[in-house]
Amino acid sequence: KKVVLAYSGGLDTSVIVKWLQETYDCEVVTFTADIGQGEEVEPARAKAQALGVKEIHIEDLREEFVRDYVYPMFRANTLYEGEYLLGTSIARPLIARRLIEIADQTGADAISHGATGKGNDQVRFELGAYALKPGVKVIAPWREWDLNSREKLMAYCQQHDIPVDFSSKKKSPYSMDANLLHISYEGGILEDPWAEAEEEMWRWSVSPEAAPDTPTYIELTFDQGDIVAIDGVPMKPHEVLEKLNTLGGDNGIGRLDIVENRYVGMKSRGCYETPGGTIMLRAHRAIESLTLDREEAHLKDELMPRYAEVIYNGYWWSPERRMLQAAIDETQKNVSGVVRMKLYKGSATVAGRKSDASLFDESIATFEDDAGAYDQKDAEGFIKLNALRLRIAAGKGRRQD
Ligand code: ARG
Ligand code: SIN
Repeated sequence: KKVVLAYSGGLDTSVIVKWLQETYDCEVVTFTADIGQGEEVEPARAKAQALGVKEIHIEDLREEFVRDYVYPMFRANTLYEGEYLLGTSIARPLIARRLIEIADQTGADAISHGATGKGNDQVRFELGAYALKPGVKVIAPWREWDLNSREKLMAYCQQHDIPVDFSSKKKSPYSMDANLLHISYEGGILEDPWAEAEEEMWRWSVSPEAAPDTPTYIELTFDQGDIVAIDGVPMKPHEVLEKLNTLGGDNGIGRLDIVENRYVGMKSRGCYETPGGTIMLRAHRAIESLTLDREEAHLKDELMPRYAEVIYNGYWWSPERRMLQAAIDETQKNVSGVVRMKLYKGSATVAGRKSDASLFDESIATFEDDAGAYDQKDAEGFIKLNALRLRIAAGKGRRQD
């Protein structure tokens, strides 16, 4: 019997390695990925080895993560509940897929993860796993064991002399999750929705107050909905996001403090830093404003909340996500051009936009003489016919308040 574990190298998942070996008497295969969390992944090798793991998989998935998950999602201008840029949600489908691929490769019949039984992440990992390997067995230790406190976990480490020195490290008071798109904070004092996050919590950005007094201007080049260059320098998707995270963080952009509805039914308070993503969203809307047809744009906006919910709830690997993605991607064929952004003290504003595929017609829109491009008299009939049903109803004495 063999199980593939999503292994971070931290205390919790190290305990899980031992617990799986003991409880299920199975061989544990570890999988650790660099998706831009900002921590070295290589140390996970020695830690896993010390726990008796023989098959250790460590991968750099940064490029794939941004190219195949983050970028497609941003084509839809995705926001969950109007605010959350889905930084954690969008990383889970990739982890689920690699867990399953490694299971197939190593002949494992089960996968395991360190998400709790209260959250969204368990749902996302497992829906993904079942969609990609219908017969897979899932082991979620947090739903089974009784090691539900820091003390119990430490005691378990002592008893089983888990040989890595995690205990000396100062533990952050927050449950955090980071990748190239965002860093998230939950728990600790944030469990009181009235309590303001302390300034020391934020790790990726300066506060808007402390940001530079002079604005930073950048030009973002779009090709079919995706940013392909910054200030004219071509970059791969993950390089774009890395660069925008730095620029955004330096200018205090992308902090968010919300209460959100988890799929399992509870409300939860979370703080997020998504500097690059916040800039990308603004800029993408700006280039779409020039290049999309009105009805196409509005319909796309109607689909977006649904698409966000599909991803938040863990249904990336589903027919409805593929269907929505196909519709969204179809709209992006002409979404190309350049957006000039101004980054200043917490805000990312659009300073200019241009496109060879622009539908903006200055000769029609002008307040000056349009030389017959638009006949204002046409508007009279347009308004009258649209008013017809309103006039009929009013004429028949229908209420008008
Ligand atoms: N609430 C956010 C979400 O569901 C963030 C979850 C953070 N996950 C974590 N394991 N700390 O997407
Ligand atoms: C967890 O419970 O593992 C983190 C929070 C979440 O998944 O929503």
